[in-house]
Amino acid sequence: MDVVRSLEAFGRLRKSWPDGGPEVCLVPTMGALHAGHLSLVEAARKRSDRVVVSIFVNPTQFAPGEDFERYPRPLEQDLKALERLGVGTVLAPEAREMFPAGHRTRVLVEELDRKLCGLSRPTHFQGVATVVLKLFHLVQPRAAFFGQKDAQQTILIRRLVRDLDLDIEVVVCPTVREQDGLAVSSRNRYLSLEERKAAPVLFRALERAGREVALGERSGPALLAGVHRCLAAESRVQVDYAAIVDPVDLEPVDRLQGKSLLALAAFVGTTRLIDNTWLTP
Ligand code: PAJ
Repeated sequence: MDVVRSLEAFGRLRKSWPDGGPEVCLVPTMGALHAGHLSLVEAARKRSDRVVVSIFVNPTQFAPGEDFERYPRPLEQDLKALERLGVGTVLAPEAREMFPAGHRTRVLVEELDRKLCGLSRPTHFQGVATVVLKLFHLVQPRAAFFGQKDAQQTILIRRLVRDLDLDIEVVVCPTVREQDGLAVSSRNRYLSLEERKAAPVLFRALERAGREVALGERSGPALLAGVHRCLAAESRVQVDYAAIVDPVDLEPVDRLQGKSLLALAAFVGTTRLIDNTWLTP
């Protein structure tokens, strides 16, 4: 497995890959790899022998006061896990190379970046879009793999790919969960024992909405009221938002017709967790 830290060295390696060779598949990550990340790597490996996993804790997607500094960075452990899955190349650039002093350009996916998580994290998605577009240019993948857990991120990246005519297939893989339903996340490690016990209520609230839809409920506000009631049962959980939205433009859905996204974010103690599910009438 090649572990490449300099962009120049990666560029040389990329040029050595022939056009007719295995499809280049990219899995962008911020490291601290868990079962969710590894499921994306496995999906990419199933498709190709030329998988690039990027590990980069992207400073531009964290706002001041968020967890950039304390974000876990267990690189050696990550590399072992990727080696076991037969990954060919890990791109783990230094922040000063990706965003050298004087870097000014930002990629804006208008409107989509201000909804849902963008309300409380107004600069997050321009940081994501900027780094993902840089990675797309560096790696020039045929396909890039993302997790449904970050639903808004996948919607925004699909928009970016379409708007900028990128010839890249965006593959979205299902959310990997713990046994009790909690979506696997690098941030789960911030939870205290009591908070960890409370956290699966997010999943239960999503499931409950799914059951109500199966029983015939079609009203967005009624479904959301049920979600809020379910979350209110846990005093350690404070809802940031719960919304039912159109999966392309993220506009609120009042009456369920097509497939809609139920997305929520909540603080469990001081840790902000997100989760989502599809609602299909
Ligand atoms: P990160 O949080 O490290 O996640 C990397 C990828 O793993 C994302 O596509 C995310 O959706 C996916 N993922 C995380 N938890 C998952 C789970 N439980 N099940 C399935 N997939 C899961 O998302 C980012 O990094 C960054 O924003 C990035 C795209 C790398 C840009 O910096």
